[in-house]
Amino acid sequence: MSADGNFYVKRRSVLARKMSSEPIKDADLKTILNAGIRVPDHGALNPWKITVINKEKQKIIDEQIILSEYKKENPDANEQNLQIEANRLQRASVVLAVLSTPVEHPKIPNWEMVLSSGAVCMNLLSCAQSLGYAAQWLTEWYAYNEKMLEYLGGRPNIDKISGFIYIGHKIEEPNERKRPNPEKVISYL
Ligand SMILES: Cc1cc2nc3c(=O)[nH]c(=O)nc-3n(C[C@H](O)[C@H](O)[C@H](O)COP(=O)(O)O)c2cc1C
Repeated sequence: MSADGNFYVKRRSVLARKMSSEPIKDADLKTILNAGIRVPDHGALNPWKITVINKEKQKIIDEQIILSEYKKENPDANEQNLQIEANRLQRASVVLAVLSTPVEHPKIPNWEMVLSSGAVCMNLLSCAQSLGYAAQWLTEWYAYNEKMLEYLGGRPNIDKISGFIYIGHKIEEPNERKRPNPEKVISYL
């Protein structure tokens, strides 16, 4: 196995609103999921969960959770905003919800378990992008909604939604975005 790192220095997300949502190959989804759970994980505690949200379930969650919770919090929302909320997850072919599900441990800090769930998100994202798919890691407001957390099987006040990994197809190649100045964020001792 060899890799020259080139993929990682060019990797780029595609905005969910700019992807198209035809199905992706089952075999690719399996590869992406396997990459997602192959992450550094101190003590092999597996303190995370991935939920695959396919087209049918996207529509149900969009209507019964996202739109309905949005309406509760925004009773005066206009039609345009309601349309956006009614179609959030349906922007993607498939959405992978990643939950951070830390456990009590005498030695391993909660922080490290949370970090490991971020690694799951990044592996899912990078793997999907390496296969040529459009993908984006989003939280948006509904990652912080308790009804959503519970719908995904999360325990209130313990588990958290680390992200929704949106995966779809590229309609066009994305433009590069502003990247950090290496000199400002990397130092050599
Ligand atoms: C935890 C997390 C949550 C994010 N949530 C959002 C979001 O809600 N809305 C958004 O526009 N971008 C969000 N982003 C940023 C997007 O993933 C964005 O596409 C990304 O910064 C593009 O970077 P890349 O091209 O290096 O992958 C989030 C990023 C992370 C790490």
